[in-house]
Amino acid sequence: MNQIDLAELIDAARDARCFAYAPYSNFAVGAVVESRTGELFTGCNVENASYGLTLCAERVALVKALSTGARDLVRVVVIADTDRPIPPCGACRQMIHELMGPDSVVVLANLTGERIVMTASELLPAAFDRNYL
Ligand code: THU
Repeated sequence: MNQIDLAELIDAARDARCFAYAPYSNFAVGAVVESRTGELFTGCNVENASYGLTLCAERVALVKALSTGARDLVRVVVIADTDRPIPPCGACRQMIHELMGPDSVVVLANLTGERIVMTASELLPAAFDRNYL
C-alpha cells in the first residue's frame, strides 16, 4: 500500500474546500478519498436552490473516484471550519460504508488541526449492506 502522509491528505481536503458551492448554508466542506495505490480524489459540497439536491463533499469525492475507475479506496478525510472535527452526515456514512468498506479509515478534521480517526464501521455500526439483500 502506498499510503500518503495524513498531513498531505488533510491539505488536499482543505484545498478542495475552497471550491465549495454553498451559497445557502455558507458552510464550506472539503473531502479527499485515497485509493490503495495512492490516487487522490477531492470533493467539496455543491448546493442547490432545491435544497434536497445538495451533494456533500464526501459523496462528491466518492463519486469522482468510482466514476474514474478507482475501486480500492482506503481512506477518506472530511474537513470544515468547525469547533470540533466534522462528522459525515448519515447519507455519507452509508455511501462510505458501501463504497469503501467497513474497515476503511475515516478522518474527521477541522481547520485548527484537530483530527479524529475511525473506521467506517465505527462511524456506521449495524450498517445495512449487501449481506441483507
Ligand atoms: N455537508 C457536507 O458536505 N458534508 C457533511 O458531512 C455534512 C454536511 C454540507 C452539506 C451542506 O452543503 C452543508 O454542509 C450544510 O449542511
